[in-house]
Amino acid sequence: MNIKNICCIGAGYVGGPTMAVVAQKCPHIKVTIVDINASRIAAWNNQDLSKLPVFEPGLDKIVGEARGRNLFFSTDIDQAIDEADMIFMSVNTPTKTYGKGKGMAADLKYIELCARQIARVSKSDKIVVEKSTLPVRTASAIKNILEHTGNGVKFQILSNPEFLAEGTAVQDLLNPDRVLIGGDTTDAGQKAIQALVDVYANWVPKERILTTNVWSSELSKLTANAFLAQRVSSINALSQLCEKSGADVHEVSKAIGMDSRIGSKFLKASVGFGGSCFQKDILNLVYIAKTYGLNEVADYWEQVILMNEHQKNRFSDNIVTTLYNTVSGKKITFLGWAFKKDTNDTRESPAIQVADNLLSERAHISVYDPKVVEERIYADLDYLNTRSSEENRALLQVSNDPYTASKASHAIAVLTEWDEFKTYDWQKIYDQMQKPAFVFDGRGILDTKALEKIGFVCYKIGSGS
Ligand code: NAI
Repeated sequence: MNIKNICCIGAGYVGGPTMAVVAQKCPHIKVTIVDINASRIAAWNNQDLSKLPVFEPGLDKIVGEARGRNLFFSTDIDQAIDEADMIFMSVNTPTKTYGKGKGMAADLKYIELCARQIARVSKSDKIVVEKSTLPVRTASAIKNILEHTGNGVKFQILSNPEFLAEGTAVQDLLNPDRVLIGGDTTDAGQKAIQALVDVYANWVPKERILTTNVWSSELSKLTANAFLAQRVSSINALSQLCEKSGADVHEVSKAIGMDSRIGSKFLKASVGFGGSCFQKDILNLVYIAKTYGLNEVADYWEQVILMNEHQKNRFSDNIVTTLYNTVSGKKITFLGWAFKKDTNDTRESPAIQVADNLLSERAHISVYDPKVVEERIYADLDYLNTRSSEENRALLQVSNDPYTASKASHAIAVLTEWDEFKTYDWQKIYDQMQKPAFVFDGRGILDTKALEKIGFVCYKIGSGS
């Protein structure tokens, strides 16, 4: 089967970049990305490519090349479904905030709505691809919904989880470690798998395209995120022991990372992991294990999250203790709000929790982030419901310049590892701060020895020396 027309439902951090790359690499395929969020679609269609709703290095160029040629952004979901041979579901699958599984299970209402819309609109056979991260066995629920339409249309369901990391999405998509495609073991299932393999084969070497049964594929995505987050929590657990014992976590991670059995990636100690996926996917894994009665398995993985909570809280606790046990009325400058560098995404960013803890201690916070807009920062805090939105606005200011943000402040806290933070005129920052001037480096990116020479009192995560 030769795919000529692709529809992607969900124009978010995954759907947008993923389909932009498919369109760029497959000029013979028409790709339409649809969303119910009209303002998001309008932003994707913005002539000014610096105003796309998702910031990723290199994405503006790819969208600029393919948009209007074979890449389209639209709110007409029915028409895009009707025309497509292959439909990607790339909608959000957040943690449930109500009912059974509240705070743990994945909320599948958006996926189910998509499936029902596909079932209602389709007049010809289609391949439906799970691009969203889903609990294992979701494909059978989707199949049930699609097969009860009674209009004779045949559907094949594939699982094709996305492994891109925000901040490096374009590179990850152009040059993936592997592409995973799971499908039915039947003849029709194998044909559908082949159709999707052929799409990726336009730019991904065949040996990196892995095909499996649908359950292995669904479960592999949750497993990959659980393993990645586990490495962060493991090194973060050791960072606290380093601080107590006089060891240095940066030296320890280099020493263990050079062991080829361990490997060097994802061993950077930090104020904690964030992002929309790690926490929600591990919680989902924990929930799935519990529903099968596997309590020890559930407890094992839950510890990764508990460690992450601890790491965020101990970072803010340390700020309070170091500033003579009170931050009330003191100005603390945050460098960074995004959950990692090179993205404007703030979902589950550790900065949010750290700020919330310090605001509860009545600190005044001034935030500078190179890509995150002011409304986003206030929305993140308001979402926690710890205090009124007016109080959040009174206690926290957002600045579009790091020097203004740090003027007269008692302490600077680095919450995101943006490269530009390393290039600042730190003498100038020191001169305009209250003394003693403190730096709390939650990402271990600053040259603290040089800062100490200027006069700063420094804390670097995991550094006990
Ligand atoms: P997102 O929230 O940025 O985008 C989802 C989009 O789907 C939203 O724009 C929303 O309006 C739209 N949507 C929801 N229901 C819809 C419907 N019925 N019809 C049309 N549009 C609808 O989410 P993101 O980050 O793109 O994630 C999507 C999925 O991909 C999630 O399952 C996530 O776990 C997974 N994923 C995310 C990664 C990431 O780095 N953000 C990486 C790999 C997978």
